[in-house]
Amino acid sequence: MMTLVAVPLAERYRDRLPIGESTPVVSLGEGSTPLLRAARLSRRLGVEVYLKCEGANPTGSFKDRGMAVAIAKALEEEAEAVICASTGNTASSASAYAARAGIPAVVLQPEGAVAAGKLAQTRMYGGRVIEVRGSFDEALAAARELAERGTHVLVNSLNPYRREGQKTAVFEIVEELGRMPDAIYLPYGGGGNTAAYGQALAELEGTPPRIVAAEAADRARTVASAIRISDPVHADAVRTTVEWTGGAVVTLDDDEILTAWRELVRSEGVFCEPCSAAAVAALEREPPEPGATVVCVLTGHGLKDPDTAARLSPPTVTVDPDPDAIAAAAAAR
Ligand code: F0G
Repeated sequence: MMTLVAVPLAERYRDRLPIGESTPVVSLGEGSTPLLRAARLSRRLGVEVYLKCEGANPTGSFKDRGMAVAIAKALEEEAEAVICASTGNTASSASAYAARAGIPAVVLQPEGAVAAGKLAQTRMYGGRVIEVRGSFDEALAAARELAERGTHVLVNSLNPYRREGQKTAVFEIVEELGRMPDAIYLPYGGGGNTAAYGQALAELEGTPPRIVAAEAADRARTVASAIRISDPVHADAVRTTVEWTGGAVVTLDDDEILTAWRELVRSEGVFCEPCSAAAVAALEREPPEPGATVVCVLTGHGLKDPDTAARLSPPTVTVDPDPDAIAAAAAAR
């Protein structure tokens, strides 16, 4: 009987990653995510819009690409434990891949500021969740200091292996389109992913797409809790990347992000988490020339943040199991 086995990312892009003979494979089947054409959005904006659905990764976010490489390298270097600071997704991914590798993960999270889906999965994976009375930035400073003591390997995107793994999304996009897109829009929190995309493009031939990094206007308090980061550690690399590619940093308020979020799920059937919709909001704000081919990177799955989804959705109705009552309720929309 044939067995279907997911190809680990590190195998698919072995020649582009720092993977050697002695590097173990730690994989949950990350990468190879769908690139979907957004028909209604394309028609409305007069451009070809594609959605790179990174929520289809094993823990529901793009972090898995980087974590597969970072945890494999940590094992190769005989690390005994890993640590990260996180707004939630890095925490889930680190905990999942650490479980897969059989080592503990310590995750530092800003107290009360992580979306419910992320917290639930991190706890299930067995990550040691430590809520910090402070911001993400303060938690990251503490994680860096602990990593320097040598007891834990840091698996935030300051770890270069994380960015190496995250480069692979760009390789997939170019392979799937058969060419470079004209622009790539993606959310910008700490900037590690934007930096990784810049690294990938520097390795490829041809004119790079304009990289448009979408950030929240109120970085400290945005509804898009994944990118609630006041002091992006990769700000310099983001600036270099957007300048080199002729792109931009676009700053969006929460209303624009939430409008794009709802529009996307209703008109395209694609449910991402709020921060991912910042990529689409940036596209709406700064559309490219007519006919351009653009990719919006939807970095995380919608189920990551069920509370915000519930707040923005119409209420459900309850009726008796009676066909007439059901027909009336169905017609009442
Ligand atoms: N999209 C999602 C779903 C994220 O979780 C993050 C960051 C970003 C975009 C921004 O990426 O920081 O590389 O610019 N999440 C981090 C975390 C901070 O802890 O999960 P970035």
